[in-house]
Amino acid sequence: MSEQTLRLDYAFCLSEALGKGHGLELAALKSLQAQVDRAHARLAGQRKEGVLGFWDLPAMPPEDLAAITSEAARLKSLADNLVVLGIGGSALGATAVDMALSGVFRQSLPCKNNGMRLFVADNSDPRMFCSLLGGLDLKRTVFNVVSKSGSTAETMSQFLVVLERLERALGPKEARERIVFTTDPEKGNLRLLASREPFRVLNVPPNVGGRYSVLSAVGLLPLACAGHDVAALLAGAAEMAGRCQKASLLENPAYMFASLAVAMQRAGRNILVMMPYVSDLLGLAQWFAQLWAESLGKAQSLDGKLVNLGQTPVAAVGATDQHSQLQLYMEGPQDKLVCFLTLANYGADLEIPALYPEIDALAYLGGRSMSELIQAEALATAAALASQGRPSLGLRLPRLDAQVMGQLIFLLEAATVAAGAMLEINPLDQPGVELSKHLTYGLMGRSGFAEQKKRLQALDPGARYLI
Ligand code: PA5
Repeated sequence: MSEQTLRLDYAFCLSEALGKGHGLELAALKSLQAQVDRAHARLAGQRKEGVLGFWDLPAMPPEDLAAITSEAARLKSLADNLVVLGIGGSALGATAVDMALSGVFRQSLPCKNNGMRLFVADNSDPRMFCSLLGGLDLKRTVFNVVSKSGSTAETMSQFLVVLERLERALGPKEARERIVFTTDPEKGNLRLLASREPFRVLNVPPNVGGRYSVLSAVGLLPLACAGHDVAALLAGAAEMAGRCQKASLLENPAYMFASLAVAMQRAGRNILVMMPYVSDLLGLAQWFAQLWAESLGKAQSLDGKLVNLGQTPVAAVGATDQHSQLQLYMEGPQDKLVCFLTLANYGADLEIPALYPEIDALAYLGGRSMSELIQAEALATAAALASQGRPSLGLRLPRLDAQVMGQLIFLLEAATVAAGAMLEINPLDQPGVELSKHLTYGLMGRSGFAEQKKRLQALDPGARYLI
């Protein structure tokens, strides 16, 4: 296999490296193949039924991709800033890829690739939204309202605020030129508005759920606006889709990731830490946290039994969090599996000057590169954990570009549905997030939700225990 592709390293999950009584015996790992076979058959069936829409996104018809890139070109001709109004799966993917490719400091630095400055306003927090809208020149800004359902309160409230401001600043016609919807092709309030008023609209395929939608128009439009190579992103995902078709656990990185996570969870490792040794991949770790948590945190199994399953994902960054969380990972409860993301080629490097040869603590750094240092830190941390019988797996990225991001995203999505199939739960729904939404509707006076308001009033302890 070419060293230009993402590789999964599971050596530090095995007893061979962790010591007897720790980690997985290779034979036990291999014996998971029977469960993988069942998961494989289930996923194949779901793909046939058209349930796993995300799997087909890398091979989207060229005209669908062209519709996205030509809308991006139109937006770029109108403005310098794009604000995405969306939350959860409608927001995290675009942030993850934009941060990975343009850097964690991207909004404060000149734009790369002739792209727009991308802001993802994924909260109903008025402090954040006022400061964003107040800081941008509205005449140089366009908005992408991303909501599959078209009813998410956070996103809809932002849309209403923005529409009114744009109408005041530019008039009703121009305001509608500057707002693009990304939503379901048939259902929902955004679709309804687009049928009545001249808003532009892109489709989210009905069989693609929010957190699996970054490779649809949900992620691709903002990413194309920001100047990223969305065709390369899809090409990378397509390569990984090919690798993730294989039935063999030992050849399929998604099945290996899922099997390791499931086996470790069954052994009491209820926390999965996603820890890239790349600051620009913090967004990816946060995107993964939502994917893993919302997909796999479930009360019921497929046959209706109460299981209350789920591994809690934690987003961390190396080497930064070596100075924050690592103490806990090294000595705290034996309840974690760490996934390290490492980079062979950082695409930029600095030689550390040899300035003080007489001071040992500085001398050894002189003449070495910063990439050598961070790579050494990643390896040393994994080895230190292993020496205490604490497992980790490694996702090794050859470099950080759109193609490799496509590989990584697809791998993690495929691993998530594979883990769901192995655990016999549904990784595509999210019944647990409905109740708080409905109680919010009740509190905010939405018609049809008066019962929820009463229920909340009954539950609310008020100020009884306030000190
Ligand atoms: O993954 C999911 O389904 C959720 O995180 C949704 O993306 C999120 O709730 C936003 O939903 P919508 O796109 O309908 O506004």
